Amino acid sequence: MRQVFLVLSALLLMAATTSAHSEFSNPGIERRVDELLRRMTLDEKVGQLVLYSAGVPTGPGTGRADYREQVAKGQIGSFGNLTGAAATNALQKIAVEKSRLGIPLLFGIDVIHGYHTVFPVPLGMASTWDPRLVERAARVAAEEATAEGIRWTFSPMVDIARDARWGRIVEGAGEDPYLGSAMAAAYVRGYQGANLANADSLAACAKHYAGYGAAEAGRDYNAADMSDRTLRQIYLPPFESAVNAGAASIMSSFNTLNGVPATADAKTLTEILREQWKFKGLVVSDWQAVAELIPHGVALDEATAARKAILAGLDVDMESGFFQRHLGELVRTGRVPEAVLDEAVRRVLRVKFALGLFDRPYTPEPAAGVPAKLDPAHLELARTIAERSLILLKNDKAGGSALLPISSPARTIALVGPLADDAVNMLGSWPGKGEAKNVITLKTALAQRMQQSGGRLLYAKGTEINSASDAGFDQAVQAASKADLVIAALGEDAPSMTGEAASRAHLGLPGNQQQLLEAVAATGKPVVLIVFSGRPLALTWAAAHLPAMVQAWYPGVQAGPALVRTLFGEVNFSGKLTVSVPRAVGQEPLYYNALPTGRPANGIDLTHPPANSAEKYVSRYIDERNSPLFPFGFGLSYTQFAYAPVKLSKTTVSANALNSGAASVMVSATVTNTGTRAGREIVQLYLGQRGTSVARPIKELEGFRVLELAPGESQRVEFKLSRDELAFWNIDMHYVAEPAEVSVWIGPNSAEGQMARFTITR
Ligand code: BGC
Repeated sequence: MRQVFLVLSALLLMAATTSAHSEFSNPGIERRVDELLRRMTLDEKVGQLVLYSAGVPTGPGTGRADYREQVAKGQIGSFGNLTGAAATNALQKIAVEKSRLGIPLLFGIDVIHGYHTVFPVPLGMASTWDPRLVERAARVAAEEATAEGIRWTFSPMVDIARDARWGRIVEGAGEDPYLGSAMAAAYVRGYQGANLANADSLAACAKHYAGYGAAEAGRDYNAADMSDRTLRQIYLPPFESAVNAGAASIMSSFNTLNGVPATADAKTLTEILREQWKFKGLVVSDWQAVAELIPHGVALDEATAARKAILAGLDVDMESGFFQRHLGELVRTGRVPEAVLDEAVRRVLRVKFALGLFDRPYTPEPAAGVPAKLDPAHLELARTIAERSLILLKNDKAGGSALLPISSPARTIALVGPLADDAVNMLGSWPGKGEAKNVITLKTALAQRMQQSGGRLLYAKGTEINSASDAGFDQAVQAASKADLVIAALGEDAPSMTGEAASRAHLGLPGNQQQLLEAVAATGKPVVLIVFSGRPLALTWAAAHLPAMVQAWYPGVQAGPALVRTLFGEVNFSGKLTVSVPRAVGQEPLYYNALPTGRPANGIDLTHPPANSAEKYVSRYIDERNSPLFPFGFGLSYTQFAYAPVKLSKTTVSANALNSGAASVMVSATVTNTGTRAGREIVQLYLGQRGTSVARPIKELEGFRVLELAPGESQRVEFKLSRDELAFWNIDMHYVAEPAEVSVWIGPNSAEGQMARFTITR
């Protein structure tokens, strides 16, 4: 599977002038790096491995006032959180003109889902299943950020997240390694552009390496413990994909992985990343992760923490200052070989040379007084991506026709809920430099639409996101009773309940929003629930009682227009889930590509407690179903799609031929738009293998296509299954295809689809 992206990115890069991957092994750069390194003192070398945050005046480890002096002495190599051409140029001038060797600084910041133009949160972007769109969003972000002196982003976050309790699930592409790998490469291509040396290229940083998403119990910063096979099969592929796409950097994570803090883990940082994947870029620690080696218990003092981190393969210490304070002495006393230090410095310089910083250290400063205004083309892309990130979860027929799209122009609509007019929340968990004033909320866009169509909009907030007061309920209920249709905009508070350090033990609507929802639904008026959240929520009541539900995530600056255009059917819904939506917290971690069990609950009705031992002694809950509320890959459209039976080019193929690249199986199906509207369908290919040396997931995604189909139109989709799709980490930890019975599904989501079988012989 992982090799698919190597091939994909290689093909895409062939079209570009320079291969991003070759930028770090370019002989010209290597020569310049070596020449410079020979002239550096020990302290200057250490300086290149130091990153401080300059923009945040308070917080742990910040608040220093002597950055300028340190830069002049070559004691700092890069900065985080300092933005603006003037501000970055001012420090850069000191580095270039005052420090002995004039080595330029590298300025980085978290550009995650847009910089000024804020796109949907990454989980929303992934819901488009369209890497080309994600690549374009990353390109826009790079153009906007580089104009302000930033040449490095701490993105993409490529952690696989199988647990909705973990707040950082919002920052990635979801639970699947195949989709996650496609998205990882797309972000890297978008940020880095055709050539890292271009002034508008942003060095990417795939994070958080490794296993961070597997935090036990979904609690942020918690330990991750997993088999080597799960690590290789599930958690590492998106990182390898980012490396193959040419990512300039990797960020080591906070967590322990199998007992070893990832920031001091030679196995992942050196053996896998450097030796096996041939990664030539730099590794930066997460924020103070070197200092955290002490509370992790693997170092009793600062010097030991610094020593362990650099020996394991870490290059840049973000924020802890341990490298700055101790590396020189550690090398002088022989506790860290100078060759190890040199290698780390080489990696940093390589990235700086590749970015062209030595030749063009400064950012052109805009003429004073030029108003910063969002580019209309960027806004249009933000709207398109937002539209395609929205997922229609439910759209029941009431009185013969489905509730959505909203058709009659002169209706009265009641809009209720704390997220209906909350601009800040639409910007999501990493808003960059996004400003609330640039956001069009659902309320604003809907009011405009109702005015145009002569309809009436009644708005009542009802409650706050996390409140116990029902003082606003009456107004909301009154608005609902006067309306033909109720739109309830509910969910989580992006800044405080999603993202880093925002794990939740409860997966319902926060505060009293559930009560508000039930109160407006009790009016008997049809309710469309729009869920704004950074994680899948266990909205079991809503799914059972409301006719329509939309998962909106946080759609970005164009939230309102995107929602109104889809709700009114001007554009069709096409987003699909990249995470499983749970029925209950107790199901977590919940993911579709689970291993089989020796006691499957197949054919047993799990909606009631076990009635006898045949129903009991199977892998199940006695009080909840095993299945998700909505499965991975799921999303409805205003039209319908029919899948014809899957066709195979052959029914047997040999493992040897697959492994040598001599054989493959072609699998195809025809998809027809059987409805009356044009629609975009995300066609998904899943594989399951049995008879193998290790248990394999019942189903795993190994391909997808985005089809645009006019009403009545059919298209045939074809997938090639070769070693890349069929190989896995076997009992001997070799990545090979084995003899197996293979099931192939082509379908609309992970729970439905047409199936065919073939055999892999020896
Ligand atoms: C986060 C990273 C982020 C870094 C720098 C850390 O707290 O875990 O994702 O890139 O801060 O802002």
